[in-house]
Amino acid sequence: MSKKSVHKEFSKHSKQYNNYNIIQQIAAKAMIRDVKSKAKNILELGCGSGQVYKNISWNFDSYTAMDFSSSMCELHPKNTKTTVKCLNFDEDAFFSYLDDKHYDLVLSSSALQWSKDLGRIIQKLSCITNELHAVLFTSNTFKRIQNISKKKSPILSEEKIKDAFLKYFSCEFETILYKLEFTSKKDLFNYIKKSGVSGETKLSFKEAKSLYKEYDLNYLEFEVIYIKAFKK
Ligand SMILES: C[S@@+](CC[C@H](N)C(=O)[O-])C[C@H]1O[C@@H](n2cnc3c(N)ncnc32)[C@H](O)[C@@H]1O
Repeated sequence: MSKKSVHKEFSKHSKQYNNYNIIQQIAAKAMIRDVKSKAKNILELGCGSGQVYKNISWNFDSYTAMDFSSSMCELHPKNTKTTVKCLNFDEDAFFSYLDDKHYDLVLSSSALQWSKDLGRIIQKLSCITNELHAVLFTSNTFKRIQNISKKKSPILSEEKIKDAFLKYFSCEFETILYKLEFTSKKDLFNYIKKSGVSGETKLSFKEAKSLYKEYDLNYLEFEVIYIKAFKK
């Protein structure tokens, strides 16, 4: 999967993003609801337009929001407590930026499933924080579509995600399958394109046509894993 095309997809839909991110909104809210510490100094990876930030209700001193899409960074709320950094969590510049940093809490919602080397990121995070809360989509997202089109999911499996976190943190996991219902097939397929979680499963015109014909559910499947991780 080319990272560039994922980047493009998020950017292209950034203006209308709020209409197509119902599952991300649920995930961000549920993740924050589970944070018990009133952390003062927070880092967020893959911040998008600020869905996670907007759900935080306690008083903090500083919030560093990071995203590799400049159009997303532009949309993120800004004030004297926020720092918005346009960085790619797969690139060395991201790792160097974190070299001399420490955060009370690291957050990430609906973003890390795209990482090229999740283990490397989690290892780095274990050096800069004692507490990490994350939600990731798993490869069971759009499972029926993968079965019909015989294409492998471009995102990480639940197992790979768990392995990466367990290596560096003590963790609690909760995996949830959300089913999002649609009244028409057209709306359902439109949503896939615009949701920002489909990545780059490229289908030919013929494949797309037969997928449309064969898709027999009136809902889309989104599987997410909630992770609460504490330094070992
Ligand atoms: C589905 S959105 C979620 C945004 C937000 N966290 C939320 O909960 O609504 C995923 C975000 O991750 C960002 N992202 C994806 N890959 C990234 C990478 N390699 N480095 C930094 N950000 C990335 C995208 O630009 C996008 O804003």
